[in-house]
Amino acid sequence: MQQITLDSQRSLLRFLTCGSVDDGKSTLIGRLLYDAQLIFEDQLRGIHIESQRKLGDVDALDLSLLVDGLQAEREQGITIDVAYRFFSTAKRRFIVADTPGHEQYTRNMATGASSADLAVLLVDARKGLLVQTHRHSCIASLLGIRHVVLAVNKMDLMEYSEDVFRTIEKQYREFAKQLNFTSITAIPMSALLGDNVFKHSTNMPWYQGLTFMSYLEEVNADTVHENEPFRMPVQWVNRPHQDFRGFSGTIAGGTVHVGDEIVVLPAGTRAVVQNIVEYKNERTQAGRGEAITLVLDREVDVSRGNVLSSVVSPASISDRVEAHVIWMHEQPVQAGKQMLCKLGTALIPAVITKIASKIDVNTMESLQTDSLAMNEIGVCVIQFESKIGHDTYLANRDMGGFIFIDRLSNETIAAGMIIRDASTTQNITWHKMDVDTAARASIKGQKPCVLWLTGLSGSGKSTIANLVERALWAEGKHTYILDGDNVRHGLSSDLGFKAEDRIENIRRVAEVSRLMTDAGLIIIVSLISPFQSERERARRTIKQGEFIEVYIDTPLEECERRDPKGLYKRARAGEIRGMTGLDAPYEAPEQPEMHVSTMQQSPEDSALNIVSWLRDQGYLNP
Ligand code: ADX
Repeated sequence: MQQITLDSQRSLLRFLTCGSVDDGKSTLIGRLLYDAQLIFEDQLRGIHIESQRKLGDVDALDLSLLVDGLQAEREQGITIDVAYRFFSTAKRRFIVADTPGHEQYTRNMATGASSADLAVLLVDARKGLLVQTHRHSCIASLLGIRHVVLAVNKMDLMEYSEDVFRTIEKQYREFAKQLNFTSITAIPMSALLGDNVFKHSTNMPWYQGLTFMSYLEEVNADTVHENEPFRMPVQWVNRPHQDFRGFSGTIAGGTVHVGDEIVVLPAGTRAVVQNIVEYKNERTQAGRGEAITLVLDREVDVSRGNVLSSVVSPASISDRVEAHVIWMHEQPVQAGKQMLCKLGTALIPAVITKIASKIDVNTMESLQTDSLAMNEIGVCVIQFESKIGHDTYLANRDMGGFIFIDRLSNETIAAGMIIRDASTTQNITWHKMDVDTAARASIKGQKPCVLWLTGLSGSGKSTIANLVERALWAEGKHTYILDGDNVRHGLSSDLGFKAEDRIENIRRVAEVSRLMTDAGLIIIVSLISPFQSERERARRTIKQGEFIEVYIDTPLEECERRDPKGLYKRARAGEIRGMTGLDAPYEAPEQPEMHVSTMQQSPEDSALNIVSWLRDQGYLNP
C-alpha cells in the first residue's frame, strides 16, 4: 500500500494535522521545528519565558506554545493566513495547515484541508482510535487527501510498547479499508520527548521505519493533474482603459494557449484566446495555479463567477448538484435552508433541497436522515439560484469544492464537495409554439398571473381563493385554483410534510402554475409554502411580473382556535408531527405584493381588495 518515492527536488508538501490539542498536535509541530532548528531565536526566547510562567519550571520548554501562539493572534483577528505555517529543510518546503481549537475543529479542517496533499492523524497511544479519528479520516478522504500518517503519540506513557502500537495500527488499517487512501504510514512517537519525530528513537528499537521528518521529506504525495481540461473561474473583468478588456483569474485546471478556443460558462459563448497576460508580460501559454489575464478575440459577455473552460471537455453547467456536505454550525440543518454558496469565484444563493443520507463515520455506512447536526457529513441535493459551471470534486477540487455562508452572520457554516450534476434537463431543448402566451391570453381578455396565497393552515387561504375565483368568474375571467389539499390528492400524492417533500410540492405547483399562465389563465395558488427561499424560487420559475405573493396573515393562535380540520388539536395530542407553526417552521413573506390581515377584514373584503388590486395593476383589462 505504501508508495514512498525519494524526491530530490525542493518540492512543496502541504499537510494538515488532525487531532485535538490534547493529542499533542501542537507539541508535535513544535518539536519538529525545534529539533530541525527551524525556530527563529526571538521566538524561542519568548517560548522559554512563557513556558516557565506556565509550567513553573526553569528548564521547561512547552513546544505547543510555538504553535498555540498562533491561535491568540487569530482570535485578535489579525489574519487568517497564520493558520498556515511555512518552513523548509534542505530537501523540501512545507506548508502546515494548523487547525487548533476544539469545537471549530471540523470547520478548520475542512477549509484548511482542501489544498493539502497529506494528513497527519494524531492518536494518543493511551486512548487509541476515537470517533474523532474516524471523523477526521472520513473528512480527509472525502476532501481528496490520499496520504495519511498515523502518528501514534505519547508512546512514552505506554512504555514504548510495540504491542500497543501494532494494535492501533492494525485497527486503523482495518477501518481505513473503506476510505480512499493510497498510503497509510504509522509512526510510533513521543512528540514531547522527540522520539521518532526528527531523530530515531532509541526507546523503540523495534521500529525500523522512517522518522516523522524523514517521511515528510521523502513522501511523494503530489497530486497528478495530467490531461486535466482547462478551467479558469473569472475573478474580475479587467478594463483599465477603452482599448483593453481582459478576464483575470487563477487557472484552476489544465493549460491555456494563445489560439485556443474557450467557452464561457454558463452562457455557452465561444471565443478564441488572443493574448495571455501575466502582470505586464505576454505569454503564449499558462497552466494550473497561475494568475493571469486572458484577452479574447471578440466581445463576449463575461462577469465575475463565470468559468472560462476548455471547449473539448467543458465543465458541467447546471443549477442542481448532489454533494457531500460537512455541516459546521451548532444549529442542525434541514432541507429548505437558504444560504450563499461560494464555488470558485461565484457567490450565489443556494438552498439544500434534500438531505438524502448521512455517513456514520465509525462504520462508513449511509444512514437515512432529514437533518445534519454539527460536524456531521451528509449527501445533499443543492439547488443554485441559477446555472453555474462546475466539476465533480473528484475531477477538480477547485471546481467541485464549495463553502456555504450564512446570509446574516457571514459565517462559513458548511463545506461541500460535488458528487455529481443532478440536473435532469440535459439533452432536451425547449420547443417554441406558434400560438404564444400573449396570443392565448388576448382571446381571454386578461393578463395571466399567479396569485400565490401563502399562510398557515387554517389562515383562510382556501376560503379567500374561492371568493376571488368567484368574483373573477363573474367578470368572465378564465381562472383556476391550485389548492394544497387538492394537489396532494393527485399531483403530489407521493409527498408528505417533511421539509424536502414540501419543497418538492412547492416546486411542482410553481411549475404547473407556469404552464397554466402560459395557457393564459389567472391562477390562484393556495399553499402553505412555508419557506421564503422556495417562494422566491417559485417567483423565478414564473415569468417576471406574473408572480403575485399574497400573505394571508392570521396569527397561529387564531388558526388554532379556528382549526377547521381539527389538525392543530391532533398535532397537540401528538398524533401529527411536523405541523406548520407548531413543530415545523413558517417563514412569513418579507415583501409580499399584498398583505391580508384576516383579523382586520372579512374574507369577502379581502377577496374584493385582491380583485381591485388586480384591476388596478391592469391584469383584468389589459
Ligand atoms: S406545503 O407546506 O407543502 O405548502 P400544503 O399547502 O400542501 O403544504 O398543505 C396542505 C394541507 O395539508 C394543509 O392545509 C393541512 O390541511 C394539511 N396538513 C396535513 N399535515 C400537515 C402538516 N404536518 N403541516 C401542515 N399542514 C398539514
